[in-house]
Amino acid sequence: MKHPEITEDMIFQCFSAAQRCTDQHGTAASFVDVEEYENQIMYPEFARWAEKAGQRDLARLFRKVAGEEKLHAVWLRELYDDIGVPPRGEDTQRAIDALETIKANCDALVAMNPKGVVEKALSVAIRVEEREYRDIYPRFRDQALENDDAQTAAVYQRVIDSEQQHAEWFHAALKDVQSAAVAETA
Ligand SMILES: [Fe+2]
Ligand SMILES: [Fe+2]
Repeated sequence: MKHPEITEDMIFQCFSAAQRCTDQHGTAASFVDVEEYENQIMYPEFARWAEKAGQRDLARLFRKVAGEEKLHAVWLRELYDDIGVPPRGEDTQRAIDALETIKANCDALVAMNPKGVVEKALSVAIRVEEREYRDIYPRFRDQALENDDAQTAAVYQRVIDSEQQHAEWFHAALKDVQSAAVAETA
């Protein structure tokens, strides 16, 4: 039987990027859609992989970050109380479909190479968090500033700081996993 293979890029495709729209309300809806997807689906899935790989602390970290992604959506919802259930963004739907296609293989792969899968998940999580705090959310904050909406800009800035912290936590966790792997083979 052919061994299933899952690359970092395949996992990266399972994340969605929020889109800056021409109006702030559209941007906010896309933001909430993506943050809630990370909260409900993507980080819980990573936590499940970490749990299966026997990495309980890492599973806890993924769940903690998932909880904070929910908070990001809550902070913005407080300013846009008419968002309701935002329309599913095209990129989020694509991400959901990408996750479906790798899920079955993933379980087999975690069983075969738990550390490898966990390391890839962490590397992807770092890329996602860095893309958010360096590129995507600064553009959302700047849109609010262009519209003299200091309140919304302040929320995006709070989110940027939080995503940066997520990236730092994941960098530290990846280092831990890698040094544990080195210690085992030494
Ligand atoms: Fe977030
Ligand atoms: Fe995050």
